[in-house]
Amino acid sequence: MKKIIVLVLPVLAGIVLNAKDLKLSENNIPETVKALTLEEKAMLVVGFKVEKVSGAAGATCPIPRLGIPSITLADGPAGLRINPTRDGDEQTYYCTGFPIGMMMASTWNRDVVGKVGQAMGNEVLEYGVDVLLAPGANIHRNSMCGRNFEYYSEDPLLAGRTAAAFISGVQSQGVGTCIKHFALNNQETNRLICNSIVSDRAMSEIYLRVFEIAVKESQPWTVMTSYNCINGIQAAENKWLISDKLRGDWGFEGCVMTDWGGGYRAENIISSGNDMIQPGGQYWCDEIVRAVRDGRLDEKDLDACVGRVLELIVKTPTFKGYKYSDKPDLASHALVGREAAEEGTVLLKRTALPYAEGTDVALFGVGSYDFVAGGTGSGDVHRPYIIDLRDALSQGGFKLDGAVDEYYSEFMKLEAVRCRNIDTEAGLNLWFLEKERPLEALNRELVENAAKRAQTAVITLTRVSGESKDRLAATSFYLSSGEMDLIDCVAEAFHSEGKTVTVLLNVCGAVETASWKDKVDDILICYLPGQDGSRAVADILCGRVNPSGRLPLTLPIRWEDEPSSRNFPQILADKAANYSFYRNFYDGVVRNDVKNIDYTLYEEDIFVGYRYHSSVGQEVSYPFGYGLSYTDFEWSEPATRKVAGGWEVSVKVKNIGSREGKDVVEIYLAHPADGEYLPAEGRPTLELKGYAKTGTLGCRETETIKIFIPEWICDAAQGGKLPKGYCFTALRSAGSHFSSKKICDSSNL
Ligand code: BGC
Repeated sequence: MKKIIVLVLPVLAGIVLNAKDLKLSENNIPETVKALTLEEKAMLVVGFKVEKVSGAAGATCPIPRLGIPSITLADGPAGLRINPTRDGDEQTYYCTGFPIGMMMASTWNRDVVGKVGQAMGNEVLEYGVDVLLAPGANIHRNSMCGRNFEYYSEDPLLAGRTAAAFISGVQSQGVGTCIKHFALNNQETNRLICNSIVSDRAMSEIYLRVFEIAVKESQPWTVMTSYNCINGIQAAENKWLISDKLRGDWGFEGCVMTDWGGGYRAENIISSGNDMIQPGGQYWCDEIVRAVRDGRLDEKDLDACVGRVLELIVKTPTFKGYKYSDKPDLASHALVGREAAEEGTVLLKRTALPYAEGTDVALFGVGSYDFVAGGTGSGDVHRPYIIDLRDALSQGGFKLDGAVDEYYSEFMKLEAVRCRNIDTEAGLNLWFLEKERPLEALNRELVENAAKRAQTAVITLTRVSGESKDRLAATSFYLSSGEMDLIDCVAEAFHSEGKTVTVLLNVCGAVETASWKDKVDDILICYLPGQDGSRAVADILCGRVNPSGRLPLTLPIRWEDEPSSRNFPQILADKAANYSFYRNFYDGVVRNDVKNIDYTLYEEDIFVGYRYHSSVGQEVSYPFGYGLSYTDFEWSEPATRKVAGGWEVSVKVKNIGSREGKDVVEIYLAHPADGEYLPAEGRPTLELKGYAKTGTLGCRETETIKIFIPEWICDAAQGGKLPKGYCFTALRSAGSHFSSKKICDSSNL
């Protein structure tokens, strides 16, 4: 016995001595976990209030005795979101307002998205932040989801690849990303608890596929779980989602965190493999300690989470002692954002565009004078400026009609008084409160006189949305009578003078276009294109830039045509707010009382967006993937060959028009049975399986595009083969409409 004590004491002394001197490094994470007390472990998996960077959304808790610093997390998808000013500090901390996520996807250009990621990542690094809480990658299940603007697309391949390009770009700067909201955060109404009832197939092929692609292609440092429940289990507490799918099946190596305030029971969050409870607070620390002590939580599960948090920390610039400048190069980043806006703008209709430089333009629509750069909520950015369309056009060499300009200037002054943002004025900036938008203005005499003077008219229509609230189709998808009257009046007056009208859609998502598109000559959709987006629009209007964006979403004829519209919340704002308020005091009970409030049925299964419309042969106003150009392209007969792990499709694209430009090749897997809509087992008529954008092609120039289509994303494939009758189809939209061209019958491939 004596011998044992003699042997054991020096060993114990050694451990104590080592633990005392231990400082975290990437080589001693298991030892560091062992050296932490239970309370310290709890503190590490719970967010902490450290205001190193003013306005950042969250941080982790420092444990100085073990050399563990606090790291900083900040939003969001369209630019870094931190406070632009600090008390007693002369310097400003503005961040570039880039185009919204939806517009990034609309570029169909991963290089451009990657460049935006690099620029944004550089601002993250230089402002002392470690992890950017972006990208938002949820599928646009229904166009009325209030946060669709932050997300990419109705298609998982386009969304997943765009997310991957963005993540790689940001992380190339040595900072982390956080892909969110995992998963099925497809509505804002009652988002904290609404139960998404969805089939395994729809999850695997659509709603989780986007995250799977992004994780496999770019390994984000972190993932944020969503607020909602999935088939009765909170996403933040969902072991199947986090440990089995994300880590097990897809090989995710990083750290998972809750959305802010998401998750209910500490022991379930931690044991599901969710590593960090944000934004945290003492309650959660105490709960975790209690849960371990009374046996609800196995300390081993806590240790696993702590280990992953430490693995995240050692990668960060803060841990590495990076001396940030607080002075990123905002001027050069503004150019990157502008380039993305140029690439993402979609020409929907073309008759007269582009205008000659110096054209006299009468600029209508309150949106032209109060241009919208981004959405609201945590996806908004404190940008240094927003260039109005009016200024962008004058700076871009257009001559603006003086009387129209004067009329709107006066009108906007009055509207500004009516729409005062009381919260902002009081310095509160309550981002969840909807800011009132100016009403549409119309003065018939002014329009008629302007039609005699100006050479052309531009009308801007706007829509804004944001976190915590869904859009209402009646007022947000459909145009107001004021907007319709404006289009009618301007079109009539200008057409009777033999002049043209362009409509610019400065919108957060789909709006109705079918009823009025024949009344105007040209239509552009520029989404919410960031602080310099209007400059990109000016360049497109005058032809300095040839538009090459393609829709990442369908513009249906009626909102009711969307397959999920039967199962999507459309209740009035005050009622929704009441419901949310009531339900948000979550008591851990998953209710199935009120449809679209307590639960949402994903009845349409995998038939989301164009997958539905193409399968039932339903006409839409502008289809997914659509977009025109100022030039024409000719495609060679494309070739498909079987290669290891998939197929390769190659297409030769030739610019046969008179301007330089870029084209997009979209490859779809086509199902033989057109018109089949069998939510439970049918396959859609069309599914995007690959795409690529050409470089800038001069007149008569050719580029061969080669697209690799991996087997694993072709759900119809069995044993590396496509079933009989399936084929890859290339769809072209640079022409009058969405014409399809069959490129090969792959039944024998
Ligand atoms: C949002 C997240 C955001 C977080 C931190 C939440 O309300 O859903 O997207 O990252 O706040 O600001």
